[in-house]
Amino acid sequence: MLRRRLSLDNATRSKDLTGKTYIVTGANSGVGLETTRQLVKQGGHVVMACRRTDAGEEAARSFRGLEGTYEVERLDLADLDSVRDFVSRFKANHDRLDGLACNAGLVTMASRPEFTRDGLEMTIAVSYFGHFLLTELLLDALRASAPSRMAIVSSVTHAGSPNNRPDVNLDDLNYEHRDFNNFAAYSEAKVANVLYARELAERLEGTDVSAFSVHPGWARSNFGSGGSLPMRIAMAVMRPFSRFVSDSNEQSAQTTLHCLLSDDAPNHPGAYFSQSSVLYRDRKCRGGGWPMDTPNPNAKNIETARKLVDMSYGIVGLARPNGPR
Ligand SMILES: NC(=O)c1ccc[n+]([C@@H]2O[C@H](COP(=O)([O-])OP(=O)(O)OC[C@H]3O[C@@H](n4cnc5c(N)ncnc54)[C@H](OP(=O)(O)O)[C@@H]3O)[C@@H](O)[C@H]2O)c1
Repeated sequence: MLRRRLSLDNATRSKDLTGKTYIVTGANSGVGLETTRQLVKQGGHVVMACRRTDAGEEAARSFRGLEGTYEVERLDLADLDSVRDFVSRFKANHDRLDGLACNAGLVTMASRPEFTRDGLEMTIAVSYFGHFLLTELLLDALRASAPSRMAIVSSVTHAGSPNNRPDVNLDDLNYEHRDFNNFAAYSEAKVANVLYARELAERLEGTDVSAFSVHPGWARSNFGSGGSLPMRIAMAVMRPFSRFVSDSNEQSAQTTLHCLLSDDAPNHPGAYFSQSSVLYRDRKCRGGGWPMDTPNPNAKNIETARKLVDMSYGIVGLARPNGPR
């Protein structure tokens, strides 16, 4: 039986986004590129936040003739100074921010942890800490433009399996005192993404700024393409077969776009939204949902989410905002 993919409804895909400004990280490739394309198609202005600006400019050539506008700005999420520079440039040039898609991510193919120049393990640095700093520095702009939204791209891997639910290891977020496994590190970073959206929703209650986490689907993107030669060959061989169960990048952008644009998403603050996906180990989750109840209780634990966020301020060198949550 053919799998039913979740797609934007007509009202959402025909909203006029003229005058609205969005930031999409990792906008040069895969899910980020197609998220950007739809926002530009609907008349929005997108700041394409790319580690490689040349790749961003090249990808954006395909937007020619679309209604909206874009610019390409350098952002390396593995470098906290680059995040601060990006935000300074953004604020100097823009007076509003209607939506932020924290989309960029990676899985390293290394058997040992790789550390960024800030001393952070690469996977969680890019997927979570870089986006944490970016988001915290942009919260004032999002608040000033409310109603506004954030879609934080997680992954099905955050859910794990009934016998193995990943969790953030608050005693050793940085893999200094335990064995490293690249896929376990990826799953853990993606749990952090889901928890962060929950904590943000709690903190932003009543502000009209909404935060959500997302599983985009099994995107036929460049994800994982930096693997070893045998792994790349295996993936190339599998590709024709995986087409039946995987998703185009456009299909994989639908869930982020739903979170950024639909009238319904803000009714579910902090929730997890998922494209349908054969990759869930829990069969009941495979149909996805907008929103969907994650089967991983660790990703719903608000106490863990608060602790993670409190620790993250120190790790990225930000003062924790005053006042109660
Ligand atoms: N593909 C899937 O099936 C799948 C499933 C679940 C979740 N996801 C998530 O979906 C998101 C998008 O991935 P994708 O599938 O579209 O993969 P992709 O085609 O590889 O795109 C990933 C994007 O992240 C960017 N990026 C990597 N490191 C960065 C850094 N240090 N600073 C800034 N940007 C950086 C990449 O830039 P470069 O081009 O310069 O490397 C690229 O633009 C990721 O968060 C991924 O974890 C994907």
